[in-house]
Amino acid sequence: ADRNVVRIVEVGPRDGLQNEKGIVPTNMKVELINRLGIAGLTIIEAGSFVSPKWVPQMAGTAEVITRMEKLPGVHYPVLVPNMKGLDNLLELLSTTTSQSVDSSSAPTSTIPPTDEIAIFTAATDAFCLANTNCTIEESLKRLAPVTQKAREKGLRVRGYVSVVITCPYSGKVDYHRVRDVAKELLEMGCYEVSLGDTTGTGNSTTVGDMLDVVVGVVPVEKLAGHFHDTFGMGVANALTALETGVRTLDSSVGGLGGCPYSPGATGNVATEDILYSIQNSKYRTEKKVDLEQLADIGWWISEKLNRQNASLVGRALRAR
Ligand code: HMG
Ligand code: MG
Repeated sequence: ADRNVVRIVEVGPRDGLQNEKGIVPTNMKVELINRLGIAGLTIIEAGSFVSPKWVPQMAGTAEVITRMEKLPGVHYPVLVPNMKGLDNLLELLSTTTSQSVDSSSAPTSTIPPTDEIAIFTAATDAFCLANTNCTIEESLKRLAPVTQKAREKGLRVRGYVSVVITCPYSGKVDYHRVRDVAKELLEMGCYEVSLGDTTGTGNSTTVGDMLDVVVGVVPVEKLAGHFHDTFGMGVANALTALETGVRTLDSSVGGLGGCPYSPGATGNVATEDILYSIQNSKYRTEKKVDLEQLADIGWWISEKLNRQNASLVGRALRAR
């Protein structure tokens, strides 16, 4: 594989929209995902099968992934916190598959709504409890059979570790804990683990230090960087991760997002900013992503949601 190919995981429709105050209409979510696929993104996190009591914004995910356009070669992972979420997804997958067989009107699609789930835990018990109502150890116990069953059903499984730099509840994080949890997720059967700077407090130095600890034990090819841009360090942290050998970056169009269980945290580093930061470098995305088109999507969704466009690149391109 080309060592300079960077994979971008667009998390805007999930990480971005999960934190919106109001309810985002299903049509808008579907249009966002469709447009992101047309712009050239190949991994688009489409939503979550979590408890609607905990995150009401993601309650319509089943409808979203049923209605969105499934482009060949594009993955549309969804977050799953427990067996109930997986079972809900599997039920949807079985009904959509049978529908596409006997439906005569709608254009039939043989592509299932998704082929991938993302499970999530954290590097601190305090965050894990706030986010999923269980300790890290309990969450790993809960997620092991979820991962196993998902893989048996042909789904690939991605893992997340939250709060890899600082925790909003317990402060500075022990990077050895990050390493150990990441290792467990891989051993459980995740093909990749995304390291989340949930609070966006990391900088090049702390992210570099964290990665030095993790990469000694976990293969760097299996890691992704998930940087929230709360302190404006998202691009710097992403480039630091690339220098360390990480080749997968999570980002969000227009810098949408935040985490409902991380007070004050803002969105992910903007996908526009990541793309711009690797322009004219040795790095490239596998498939060309149209930056202008992506910037337009960032503006469109920001205006629809009545929020500031958090992508500096998007803003700069418009000002020209
Ligand atoms: P709980 O309250 O302990 O669970 O929540 P429970 O089993 O007692 O269930 C409570 C109710 O929820 C029950 O309903 C269940 O049926 C229902 P009731 O009987 O009261 O009517 N329920 C569900 N419904 C639909 N789908 C499900 C589901 N599970 C239970 N899957 C639980 C535990 C894990 C479910 C909850 O804490 C939860 O859903 N948490 C998710 C929180 C979340 O989505 N956070 C944001 C995503 S993570 C993130 O943003 C970080 C990331 O971006 C990386 C980074 O930046 O760090 C990935
Ligand atoms: Mg996040």
